[in-house]
Amino acid sequence: MSSVVRDQYKRPLHDLRVSVTDRCNFRCTYCMPAEKFGHDYVFMPKDQILDFEEILRVLSLVVPLGVRKLRLTGGEPLLRKGLHELIRGARQIPGIEDIAMTTNGTLLKRTAGQLRREGLSRLTVSLDSVDPEVFSVMNGGRLSLEDVLAGIAAAEEAGFTGIKINCVVQKGVNDHAILDLARHFRGTGHVVRFIEYMDVGNRNGWKLDEVLTAREILDRIDQSMPLEPVESNYVGEVARRYRYRDGSGEIGVITSVSQPFCGDCSRARLTTDGRLVTCLFAEGGADLRALLRDGTSDEVLSARIREIWEGRTDRYSEERATAGDQEPDSDSASATRRVEMYEVGG
Ligand code: GTP
Ligand code: 5AD
Ligand code: SF4
Ligand code: SF4
Repeated sequence: MSSVVRDQYKRPLHDLRVSVTDRCNFRCTYCMPAEKFGHDYVFMPKDQILDFEEILRVLSLVVPLGVRKLRLTGGEPLLRKGLHELIRGARQIPGIEDIAMTTNGTLLKRTAGQLRREGLSRLTVSLDSVDPEVFSVMNGGRLSLEDVLAGIAAAEEAGFTGIKINCVVQKGVNDHAILDLARHFRGTGHVVRFIEYMDVGNRNGWKLDEVLTAREILDRIDQSMPLEPVESNYVGEVARRYRYRDGSGEIGVITSVSQPFCGDCSRARLTTDGRLVTCLFAEGGADLRALLRDGTSDEVLSARIREIWEGRTDRYSEERATAGDQEPDSDSASATRRVEMYEVGG
């Protein structure tokens, strides 16, 4: 017998975010810095990566526990061959109401139509600036802004509306360009979401003074394009919504650092190699791949997932906030190895 599962703080499990590849064709400085992910970097070998059948099996087991939303992430998810087949499979699982994807957009030109036809419901495109130079500095000089904008255009043509544009704001790097980004998408029906730069993983050398808070972001935009708040779409929505007072559209801010939202966090993450991670800042995650491959029954696997979620006490961002926003001991050998953004896709 299955029933909806709740963790130690009574938070349900509602979203599964699946990273389908650890590879990316960008080298964003805050995620996969080029000096650490050079040509000799060894990505995950194929035999360690969950195949679609394994991912779909996990998905079908978490639906009875409460999952309704699937988000495909990476790395860059569109580098995974045949991804549309995974979407088709997920579509066929009763209970999955929403299938979204977070992508850097560069491969949408040739895939958007097929993704739409197979049933992808929603798209989020990561785009940190519409200034080509700032863009290039942040993404590590791989591919161009034009490639992303062409991808967004292809997605519009394929019928995707209300595309979310995710911008990580890093003070001193792209914060001077946030107004241009807001203006670029104002009136298009797409929603730019400005994300406070977070201390995810071990490699980005995060510093608190590189964070521009959502309050500061909103103030800057409001000064030239007046804003008003909008009610959340659903309980636990990560972004806080605002609209332009003149009716020309909506933006969002994601306040992970200044106002953490762990209280409503109902997201689990499945890494490319099959670890179930219960917090973006978790250490390693629980290995499901071994169970998927050793003949373990659905019943036992489902019980294991239930046990992991029921034991969950994660509230990392809130704990960091109360601890006084200390900077993590990022690169030192003594630091615990935390999951990286490219392993869990945000
Ligand atoms: P919707 O389903 O459209 O509401 O998507 P979403 O906003 O939940 O997902 P998205 O992947 O676009 O999230 C945007 C960004 O918010 C991510 O890239 C992360 O930077 C951040 N984020 C998302 N979920 C979490 C979370 O659970 N904890 C923290 N600290 N940050 C998160
Ligand atoms: N802080 C905030 N957001 C981040 N992302 C990647 N690294 C960070 C970080 N350190 C965002 C990307 C993308 C999503 C997968 O996560 O911009 O939108
Ligand atoms: Fe790739 Fe996204 Fe990481 Fe940038 S943030 S390197 S696009 S996975
Ligand atoms: Fe959820 Fe962890 Fe993010 Fe808090 S820090 S919102 S518990 S993923």
